[in-house]
Amino acid sequence: MEKKRIYITRKLNEAVLAPYADLFEIRMWGKEEEPVPRDILLKEVKDIDGLFCMLSDKIDEELLQHAHNLKVVSNLAVGYDNIDLEAASEHGVIATNTPDVLTETTADLGFALLMATARRIVEANHYIKTNKWQNWAPFLLAGADIHHKTIGIVGMGRIGEAIARRAKGFGMNILYHNRSRKPAAEEELQATYVSFEQLIGEADFIVSVVPFTPETNKIFNKAAFEKMKQTAIFINISRGATVDEDALVEAIRTKTIKAAGLDVFEVEPITSDHPLMQLDNVVCIPHIGSASEETRTEMIRLCMDNIAGVLSGTGAKTAIR
Ligand code: DGY
Repeated sequence: MEKKRIYITRKLNEAVLAPYADLFEIRMWGKEEEPVPRDILLKEVKDIDGLFCMLSDKIDEELLQHAHNLKVVSNLAVGYDNIDLEAASEHGVIATNTPDVLTETTADLGFALLMATARRIVEANHYIKTNKWQNWAPFLLAGADIHHKTIGIVGMGRIGEAIARRAKGFGMNILYHNRSRKPAAEEELQATYVSFEQLIGEADFIVSVVPFTPETNKIFNKAAFEKMKQTAIFINISRGATVDEDALVEAIRTKTIKAAGLDVFEVEPITSDHPLMQLDNVVCIPHIGSASEETRTEMIRLCMDNIAGVLSGTGAKTAIR
């Protein structure tokens, strides 16, 4: 029987793919750090049964119209705002993502970013490596305490809960806002459900873990930053478009809030001439929430299993519903 055809939009480790080589004819874009150009992708999808894509690939009506045999789109991310789900469903294509396997790793990164921002780790590293450290001083690079402060988690999904567990270990007071209440998290983590307004007004650390949807488009805007404490630290590990970046720059410049830690940006990759990059109290990292070797390997396996499940008829492990 003819093998099903799969296209992978980035160069991935052959060893992880080896177990699937007997099942599928696998074609792959040849570069790890550069995305496949759109015109090449549109040609590649013509005859494939499964597409293994990245969060930076736009899976829209145009692409789906080019893909005559496509049955499954497997996204190497838990977020899936790059996929037009309605169009996929109209074309009979099942979309899958990678929840669960990345939860703890992404929460680790979120908490690391929070700590790095609060305790000015990046500035301190730069300070010492550029030979600025001439004397010890009582308030040299003094940051903000984390323990026993109030954290406000916007979006209490799996990653939000994993961040809350870490916050509990730091003796933090935990507020959260979510589409629906999470009684189990409230009991286990002593997390308190509050309105978005109350959360941004009371939290010392506001952590965005909310998926990007039309409802969350730029929810962190001028009005939101103005409601935050002057000492507030804003952390974003969800999607850049949940933030009005001009308003964030303004809030930092005018000391409306204290600092920000960002893993995600409205346009990725963001460039070094962006105003956010000029601010010492904004810590920026390049969308590496789930980027540990172990987790990315698990994510790749899950993407391949999802494709195999759909193409063999047994079903995807983690279809997006
Ligand atoms: C995701 O998987 O959606 C995250 O943004 C990865 O870091």
